[in-house]
Amino acid sequence: MWLSPARTGDVLEARTGAEELPVTTTSERAAVVAAESRFTEQNIVVVGGASGIGGEVASALAQAGATVDVLDRVERPQEEKITTSVVDVRDRDAVAAALAAVVERRTSVDGVVYAAGVLDGYATLEEISPELMDVVLDVNCVGAVNVLQQVVPTMKTAGYGRIVLFGSIAGIVAGAGGIAYTMSKHAVAGLVKHLAVELGPYGITTNSVAPGSIQGTKIRTSITAITSPGSVATDRGLGVMSAEDAAKTYPVGRLGTIDAVVPTVLHLLDRSSWFINGAEVAIDGGFTSK
Ligand SMILES: NC(=O)c1ccc[n+]([C@@H]2O[C@H](COP(=O)([O-])OP(=O)(O)OC[C@H]3O[C@@H](n4cnc5c(N)ncnc54)[C@H](O)[C@@H]3O)[C@@H](O)[C@H]2O)c1
Repeated sequence: MWLSPARTGDVLEARTGAEELPVTTTSERAAVVAAESRFTEQNIVVVGGASGIGGEVASALAQAGATVDVLDRVERPQEEKITTSVVDVRDRDAVAAALAAVVERRTSVDGVVYAAGVLDGYATLEEISPELMDVVLDVNCVGAVNVLQQVVPTMKTAGYGRIVLFGSIAGIVAGAGGIAYTMSKHAVAGLVKHLAVELGPYGITTNSVAPGSIQGTKIRTSITAITSPGSVATDRGLGVMSAEDAAKTYPVGRLGTIDAVVPTVLHLLDRSSWFINGAEVAIDGGFTSK
């Protein structure tokens, strides 16, 4: 069964407890095997799957039997059943070439997870530069269009597909990012609705997850990777509050973990989820219900 690296002591304790639950009956055993092999013979593309949440989604899928193709701007450590293509999602030609190769070697693509994303340093209206606006909108939203344009024709031919995009609480409310990040994640929410209606008749579902602050991820540092140092402040926003203060802003009293996001992504990718289409699943401990 998929086990991500434990990130906190309490998570480790909770997971260890779950692992030790005895599986006693035939039907319980069958359920465990089904969970471990439910993506067997499926080919799934994970964009932004070299690290972070996408990285753990890719690992979980491979362990559940899928053949996984990761597209990311950086290489990911080698892992069985996972192949990485190093591509920047802003480069349409490179994306097209990488996905043409995926389609050729797999012949079908059953699912796409689009987890690539960058934060904008909480830049305000007056601070945002055209370059930063472009990068954030391109990576967080337009890149998904670049990817799906290449893959959806194959899904249409098969009459089957599962698409899962990454939104954010910043796609539901303001204040969890700067102007560009908030715009980009609201655009993802619109993209999901549009695709649900356009592609639903072809057996293709489109949904998104909208996480709150997730511990142990590097998205906070993405601003330094896309701008010259110091061009936009990085020392503000939800991400730089102390973990204790940030946790207080969540009704459940704690921040999220990658483990709290991955199972929902897999559920939305599952064949059984055929009637979930156009949904944005907030995984935020009630943050956006306040
Ligand atoms: N971590 C959080 O607290 C949080 C909260 C809400 C939403 N999200 C969203 O979840 C998704 C995953 O975030 P994460 O925390 O795992 O981030 P991360 O920075 O750990 O991982 C993002 C991945 O995307 C890749 N990537 C970035 N730019 C790219 C590009 N131009 N081309 C190809 N690949 C690129 C990175 O190399 C990395 O592997 C993002 O869409 C993010 O906006 C994260």
